[in-house]
Amino acid sequence: MQRSHFNGTLSLAELGQTVTLKGWVAKYRNLGSLLFIDLRDSSGIVQLTIDHPENFPDVRNEYVIEVEGKVAKKDVPNPRLKTGEIEILVSKMNVINKAELTPFIIADQSDALEDTRLQYRYLDLRRPCLLHNLRIRAQICSIFRSYFDAHHFLEVETPILNLSSPEGARDYLVPSRVHPGSFYALPQSPQLWKQLLMVGGVERYYQVAKCFRDEDLRADRQPEFTQLDLECSFLSQDEILTLMEGFLKRLFKEIRGVDIVTPLRRIKYWDALDTYGSDKPDTRYDLKIRDVTALLKKSSFPGFGEADMVKGIVVPGVAAQTSRKVLDELTLEAKKWRLKAYYCLKCEGGALTGPFAKFVDEALAKELIAELSLQEGDVFFFSSSDNRRIIDFGMGGLRTYYAKKLNLVPENTFDLLWVIDFPMFTPVEGENRVVAEHHPFTRPRDEDLPLLDTKPEEVLAYAYDIVINGYEAGGGTLRIYDHDIQWKIFRMLGLSEEEVAQKFGWFVDAFRYGTPPHGGLAFGLDRLAMILAGTENIRDVTAFPKNLQASDPTSKAPQPVDPKQLEDLFIEVKSE
Ligand code: AMO
Repeated sequence: MQRSHFNGTLSLAELGQTVTLKGWVAKYRNLGSLLFIDLRDSSGIVQLTIDHPENFPDVRNEYVIEVEGKVAKKDVPNPRLKTGEIEILVSKMNVINKAELTPFIIADQSDALEDTRLQYRYLDLRRPCLLHNLRIRAQICSIFRSYFDAHHFLEVETPILNLSSPEGARDYLVPSRVHPGSFYALPQSPQLWKQLLMVGGVERYYQVAKCFRDEDLRADRQPEFTQLDLECSFLSQDEILTLMEGFLKRLFKEIRGVDIVTPLRRIKYWDALDTYGSDKPDTRYDLKIRDVTALLKKSSFPGFGEADMVKGIVVPGVAAQTSRKVLDELTLEAKKWRLKAYYCLKCEGGALTGPFAKFVDEALAKELIAELSLQEGDVFFFSSSDNRRIIDFGMGGLRTYYAKKLNLVPENTFDLLWVIDFPMFTPVEGENRVVAEHHPFTRPRDEDLPLLDTKPEEVLAYAYDIVINGYEAGGGTLRIYDHDIQWKIFRMLGLSEEEVAQKFGWFVDAFRYGTPPHGGLAFGLDRLAMILAGTENIRDVTAFPKNLQASDPTSKAPQPVDPKQLEDLFIEVKSE
């Protein structure tokens, strides 16, 4: 039988036609003289109606079948199905393949454990919601290619077997058989290659690039993930951001039917930290951070140090529920952010109450109520630190905690913004050294170059992250294209001359032969897909994801290998 239609495409337009369909039995109901089957294929579900089932082969859930039948109008349409106005009156049916009882029921609403679903991912993928997510992912790639093709970008593949480099996350290593004791590294991103493509005169490059990072996993992180990677020559930061906004506009319009207003808002890194306590702020809700250093240092609280900053957020209407138990819970939260505690002042009966209130006299209480516009029932949570990042990130943590707890995040809204003007370096705490905030190829702002020698911590970079609903959906920078500045930055990052020569010599040397000014960005394809699909779990948009232990539950990789394979690679495994 040759298939005539995809199930999900059928409608009253095909009324009276004889169609041939293939697919899986999603559900069946045998009423004795009548059998109803929901037939699923990749396009959707259609209802089959079989008169005198005893004349047809027996079917069970997930059997693969083919049928021939006539499209008829249903007396009572089924509003749950896109094809709900019709049914197929089956005249022929063959079983193509039988199926055993599946370990879980295949339906959008599943109460199967994620571990089980991932073990049998091929069954899980039959759930229409997952297929829908894969479609969104494919649509993003397709729009990506079409948009950047139209802007004269060239798709170029870069190597997967690379030189290991000391920056960034831990590498996944691949041993070389031909060079005993030597290793390739899988790419954490195609960063250096895309810059060399610019030296090579390609001018505009893109790639749907697999990246690999051996780092701690989270709900929005996979050890192997995909970047929509871009690089271009001769464009300013403004031109690059505008070009990227055009792409995002198309994505949201074509996939979600949402009009994104451009140009997008741009927030400077330090403003984002001071106001939202995050370099990827979710501005769909308020709870802005307030600096109350001057005010609270007038309190009699003995715990604030000379150099401490005191910052907090007003959480409306939670005074009654802020019990001792809640405060204990918050102390644990505070520790996660390396703060001693979150203190609180409740606004009750026109005065400030709570354990901290004893340190605040009446005049100061009045000032605080006025300054923070505290209303009856509000609670002002705050903390202190002499480290700006710690107090800001700490209050940002509390902001997210309460936004979730109080359901302050509106659904189905998309909040896009750029975070710009990142610092060039981040100090490593307790050590007298800095690391690159983005990566060592990021260009310091021209006006900040003189600060490299005097106040490196104040140097800002041409760096930009695209933030959507509190996710870092992509990031990029303008690059250094001057040989001497690149060397200087490597040295400032603590790399010795030998290390630079060995690890990056091949790359920096290229800068001596006429390097155009260039810059780029990489979107996280998985993160874009998560946001557009409306899920908070990156595994929902990855066909065969790794679990939080970086294992593949389907194939059970990684596994020990045959000793002969190790021997060929001159590798000996030490027992733990
Ligand atoms: P960066 O490291 O910021 O930049 O990565 C770019 C984007 O990739 C996504 N991403 C991830 N997604 C899923 N799992 C992960 N483990 C993961 N790590 C990163 C994020 C992030 O914004 N070469 C530079 C880009 C450039 O400068 O052009 C880079 O890799 O969405």
